[in-house]
Amino acid sequence: MGLSVELINISKSFDKYNVLTDVSIKIKPGESFVILGASGAGKSVTLKLIAGLLAPDNGQIKIGDISINKNSRENKDNLLWKRIGYVFQDNSLFDWLNLWENIGFRDLFYYHKKKEQVKEKAIEKLLSVGILSNYAELYPSQISGGMQKRVGIARAIMNNPQLMLMDEPTSGLDPIISNTINRLTLDLSKKISATAITITHDINAAKMVGDRIALLYKENFIWCGTKEEFNNSDNPALIQFINGSEEGPLII
Ligand SMILES: Nc1ncnc2c1ncn2[C@@H]1O[C@H](COP(=O)(O)OP(=O)(O)O)[C@@H](O)[C@H]1O
Ligand SMILES: [Mg+2]
Repeated sequence: MGLSVELINISKSFDKYNVLTDVSIKIKPGESFVILGASGAGKSVTLKLIAGLLAPDNGQIKIGDISINKNSRENKDNLLWKRIGYVFQDNSLFDWLNLWENIGFRDLFYYHKKKEQVKEKAIEKLLSVGILSNYAELYPSQISGGMQKRVGIARAIMNNPQLMLMDEPTSGLDPIISNTINRLTLDLSKKISATAITITHDINAAKMVGDRIALLYKENFIWCGTKEEFNNSDNPALIQFINGSEEGPLII
């Protein structure tokens, strides 16, 4: 069962630069939630806060029955990590490990599970993202960018997470491969009944994978709704984002 995610009055700044101010959102268990926003809007910071990789300055984050605030982060990391699958924006594959070792990284080096057992499970995950087992011993540098993304996704689903956090899983890929990856992440998260939070720049991807879509702008979510509401919205900031006018002041 997917985990619920709730941000309650979250603020985050770096030195005096405010990234998020008083952000509150509630994501239901099993929901697929998409975050849109221009570069630098704070999308990755939001995901890192949810994963416990960054601590909020103020407010509370509730993930299932775990609650995080600025003081409690350290104690909660281990508990949370077992339940979260994270697809990093830049893949973050280890170039000195082969594909199955990358996928089984956590089991191998953190939980010290048996090598053969990890390999078997990692190959199973590799197959579930559409990569044949004879690729398992290759290194990241030997495969294409699209395949590297798939390996990143296979790593994220290795331990059947209850929450999938995906930071631009299709950035830098051509539209056809992006489409395949979007469908794959949607199918996989529904198959394991995980809650999914996906960051994207791509409006079509947002509509394809999102039960709900939210737009991050000027330190907060200024719009959030279903894809039907998204298609019919007359919110000027959303329309401007959809039209691709990310530069220049928005009319709000
Ligand atoms: N660890 C950090 N230290 C200082 N500034 C940061 C850090 N992480 C992010 N920022 C800043 O916060 C803002 C939001 O970053 P980010 O969430 O990565 O944006 P995006 O919406 O493109 O993912 C950016 O201006 C970025 O420079
Ligand atoms: Mg980012």
